[in-house]
Amino acid sequence: MAEQRKVGASLLTTAAERRQFRRSLLAWYDRNDRTLPWRKRSAPQAAYKVLVSEILLQQTRASVVAARYGDFVRRFPSLKALAEADLDQVLTAWAGLGYYARGRNLHRAAQQVREDYGGRFPRTPEGLQTLPGVGRYTAAAIAAIAFEHPVVPVDGNILRLAARLFACSRESPLLMEQIQSLAVLSSTKQATRPTTNPATHPTKHPTKHPTKHPTKRNGDFAQALMDLGALICLPANPRCAACPVAKFCAAGSVGKGADYGARAKPKPRPVRRGVAVLVRQGKRVLLVRRPADGLLGGMRLPPMTGLDKTSTPEVAQWITRGKKYGIPCGTVEHTFTHFRLVLRVFDLRLTTRPKTTQGKNTNWIATNRLTEIALPSLGRKVLGCTNGITNGVQPKGRKKKPKSRKKQ
Ligand code: ADE
Repeated sequence: MAEQRKVGASLLTTAAERRQFRRSLLAWYDRNDRTLPWRKRSAPQAAYKVLVSEILLQQTRASVVAARYGDFVRRFPSLKALAEADLDQVLTAWAGLGYYARGRNLHRAAQQVREDYGGRFPRTPEGLQTLPGVGRYTAAAIAAIAFEHPVVPVDGNILRLAARLFACSRESPLLMEQIQSLAVLSSTKQATRPTTNPATHPTKHPTKHPTKHPTKRNGDFAQALMDLGALICLPANPRCAACPVAKFCAAGSVGKGADYGARAKPKPRPVRRGVAVLVRQGKRVLLVRRPADGLLGGMRLPPMTGLDKTSTPEVAQWITRGKKYGIPCGTVEHTFTHFRLVLRVFDLRLTTRPKTTQGKNTNWIATNRLTEIALPSLGRKVLGCTNGITNGVQPKGRKKKPKSRKKQ
């Protein structure tokens, strides 16, 4: 009986148990999978589309990606279309999604698949990891979903789920091996289609992926684990009573699911402080392109400090002028992975446009054209500090109330 089980005793030690685990999970997935636009019902999704969705999903919630994925693949419907596009077009399509390095990497990855692999994707996690922006998780996801490779992509959700399944800490050195052993077993013959009776359990997609290898559902298995983590095996209050694999769960089966899988408390992000200047002349605003590599590389922003230790001479010059002659118009906060940026924003109105400021990396952009260019959220927030400048480019987040402004 469950109560007599000791926490920590794995309930997935034999091949038969692992096969049963897989069968139960896939049967649940066939009835409960999240409807997401990048999941294809009838055949494995083309590797290009899987690459796009997995890169989008790297730092963005599935609900946000679901709202943007369709537009992106309509804009760049094929590997060729993306590889041949200008980086600017790609970054414009990426606007508002953040972590723009992903957009640049995706573009380069498409070019690399065309140039180095003759347009055919590598099919293994190792091969896929040679592409820019494709790390261990993304490579495993693409290999499983596009090529039915027996591998589990392990992110925070799956680590939590596995820590409970095997009643151990997330950091346990054996955990990865145990997770991957589920995937390898998952492609054995006996562990193929779920055995639910269609009369009693009508499935949403009875033959979801009638693939070339109907005995393998490794892509479904990986995505079923993702959905289990997202819908059932929740961080604080796991829904063990609704879990299709509860009986295999060493922690959940003895009522201790919530005791396992917690993340170590993250360290607070360091705060960097800086200054941004909205340089305006007539109906134009000055934007400076960031250096190609590094944070927000290649993106246009109002001149600002705080992103890097040093700034270019053109930015430094505007910051000095902004602090001296501009009017404080608000404070902007923006969170990056490794730090939080707090910017004091100055509004600097010029009567004439200095000739020297129209350069390769410096552009005066008409305010009614701001929606057309790749502007990161940080830029939108800064531009949002003054009224009348940002019709259509308002930041999504809240902004601090601007201080009262005098006209110069
Ligand atoms: N997160 C990363 N990859 C995913 C996928 N294929 N489906 C849902 N969430 C995901």
